[in-house]
Amino acid sequence: MNIIVCKNYEEMSQHGAQMIASLVKEKPSCVLGLATGSTPEGMYAALVEMCKKGELSFKDVTSVNLDEYYPIDPANDQSYRYFMNHQLFDHIDIDKANTNVPDGTAADPVAECKRYEQLVTDLGGIDIQILGIGRNGHIGFNEPDTKLMLDTHVTDLTEDTIEANARFFASANDVPRRALTMGIGTIFKAKKIVIMASGASKRDAVSAMLERTIDTSFPATMLNLHPDVTLICTADVLD
Ligand code: F6R
Repeated sequence: MNIIVCKNYEEMSQHGAQMIASLVKEKPSCVLGLATGSTPEGMYAALVEMCKKGELSFKDVTSVNLDEYYPIDPANDQSYRYFMNHQLFDHIDIDKANTNVPDGTAADPVAECKRYEQLVTDLGGIDIQILGIGRNGHIGFNEPDTKLMLDTHVTDLTEDTIEANARFFASANDVPRRALTMGIGTIFKAKKIVIMASGASKRDAVSAMLERTIDTSFPATMLNLHPDVTLICTADVLD
């Protein structure tokens, strides 16, 4: 795993944005795998800035997001579709029809996961997949378990994740208990993976990932099997 250590969140965000910008310039019709959460917010702001200055265009880019709560309406301000529109898509020149987030309103969530998996396959995989890391080692919503799923699937969120994400909702009771998420195999369809982490709260998770062991009870360790993974983190993560 390549490791890029940044002095602060701002520098980490700029680094991530530059990696995406280089890819988009080199391959304007690339497929970006995107994440939500607080970690990539600064990176999205930096990309919006580049686009506004006319340095970058997303007009031929396709995006696929990692996950979505289930059930949730896209108009709900806690949905990941809402997050992506507000943080990025509404402010850049991407064609919204080419942005994909699993459908949190699907009547049949299993069929929706199948459709999403096929979509990633039909796109020819992902050029660069951005990931955050959960304090419990989850990537996407692949939660610690004795088995991990390869394909996009419906998952129950762990109490730890519900508690970590409750900060965005009125209360922990309002956090949906399920989600639709790319599986480990879907994420591994990415040619390049960039995992970002900032702050001391991610220290234990990142150090477990860097142990170079494989453990389904710590899903981020799976990344040690992928040939092209870069960790971009702030220095306090490695203290
Ligand atoms: C988000 C996602 C999650 C987050 C992780 C870290 O789409 O799939 O795995 O990346 O929970 O979240 P933050 O960045 O809020 O610490």
